[in-house]
Amino acid sequence: MPRKKELIEGVQITGLADKGKAVGRAAEGYVVFVSDVVPGDVADVRLLRKRKGSWQGVAERITKPSPDRVEPRCVHFGECGGCKWQHLDYQAQLQQKTKTIQDSFERIAKIPDISYQPIMAAPDTYQYRNKIEYSFSAKRWLTQEEISSEQVYNHPGALGLHPPGNFQKVVELEKCWLQADLSNTIRNFVGDFARTHDYSFFDPLEHTGYLRNMIIRNSTLGDWMVVLSFAYEEEDLRIALLDAIVERFPEVTSLHYVINQKKNDTLFDQDIKLYQGNPHIVEQLGDLKFQIRPKSFFQTNTLQATRLYDALKAMADIRKEDIVYDLYCGLGSITLYLADQCQTVVGIEEVSDAIIDARLNAQLNGIDHAHFYAGDVRHTLVEEIVSRHGQPDVIITDPPRGGMHEQVVQKLLELAPRQILYVSCNPATQARDIALLKHAYVIDNMQPVDMFPHTSHIENIASLRRI
Ligand SMILES: C[S@@+](CC[C@H](N)C(=O)[O-])C[C@H]1O[C@@H](n2cnc3c(N)ncnc32)[C@H](O)[C@@H]1O
Repeated sequence: MPRKKELIEGVQITGLADKGKAVGRAAEGYVVFVSDVVPGDVADVRLLRKRKGSWQGVAERITKPSPDRVEPRCVHFGECGGCKWQHLDYQAQLQQKTKTIQDSFERIAKIPDISYQPIMAAPDTYQYRNKIEYSFSAKRWLTQEEISSEQVYNHPGALGLHPPGNFQKVVELEKCWLQADLSNTIRNFVGDFARTHDYSFFDPLEHTGYLRNMIIRNSTLGDWMVVLSFAYEEEDLRIALLDAIVERFPEVTSLHYVINQKKNDTLFDQDIKLYQGNPHIVEQLGDLKFQIRPKSFFQTNTLQATRLYDALKAMADIRKEDIVYDLYCGLGSITLYLADQCQTVVGIEEVSDAIIDARLNAQLNGIDHAHFYAGDVRHTLVEEIVSRHGQPDVIITDPPRGGMHEQVVQKLLELAPRQILYVSCNPATQARDIALLKHAYVIDNMQPVDMFPHTSHIENIASLRRI
């Protein structure tokens, strides 16, 4: 039996796990989750603790580096929690993602022989995001180099992304490769402005400090949105910072702020106010245009979103006379993308601002047979809707990472559409939900899509046919 703090030599790293860790196997056969290694490495691993029956460890030495190791592009790699797989060759990342989906369906859904399309690689593996949320923190994360230098750093605070698994501290970013470069210029300008003018940075533990978060969104049509979140109202300071952004960045077409006095950072329940410009940015997917306001979900990789929706369209067996339901529809992007295929399409989404956007988006694109409802799918997908619009022939479902509530899965079984297309960003919950459908549906096709290079996240479309 291994012991805590023991050094285990020659651990073979075999696969990738969540949160930037990798899975290793010791010679004795037990599994260890190890940080800072990639599949194919052989490492001497110091055991740290046992969690849920598995050992967690840290690599003290890599005795044989994997042939799939590559040089990470980002100077913040290792410190920042943004993209933890930059040191793994992109083709190897894709293989690992496919393996994650296969493992989930074999292990959780107990469905072994599924026919998969090859994973769709992202055309751009850097600067692919259209949305990023930076945090301010009074506690700047010090790099290993800074710690070893034994110098005292009196930094007033940091604006950037959190280090892996640490939501109090923030890595001060100089250049992030996730979004187009203007995002870096805006972030660095706001951070410098705040420090020069003595603005205080939020401390999430003490719940003190003024500046909390900054969301930056952009579109391929050239729109830029900035949403600044303050911990309390201090009108002069707020206006000075917002005006400085207006003056310095004419590219920002939609500038908002919010006073968030809650403990957590989520803004869904907050009053986000427009300061300058348009209330939304506009994005184009295929022939359709979408207005996006601050609270609305939109796929964060625009190029891959179009390819994801095209793949969905190709897999969908939708006929002209069909009634299609799109559950968890956000601002109606899938709903409207598929609208030209069918007679009626119904979208359900719990964020009411997104439903306002969805209705506007239907108008904007001249679509009059799309109907939208705001509410939790569990309570909104009810008889009244079905009797108003008809029994669905095809259901699209695209829930958040937690998957569908069991009652929603039961509702799908009751409604018994000919085909269910399940789009998911979490294969574990997708497999769990599909396990509940498998006595009535068979998976006839799967299409993994890589929306998030250099991270463990993976999108997957599963097509299910009624037996
Ligand atoms: C993964 S996104 C998909 C959005 C959309 N299909 C798209 O492709 O842009 C999931 C959406 O589900 C919404 N949502 C989360 N929980 C919900 C629930 N219980 N009922 C309805 N909508 C929910 C979120 O607000 C979000 O817009």
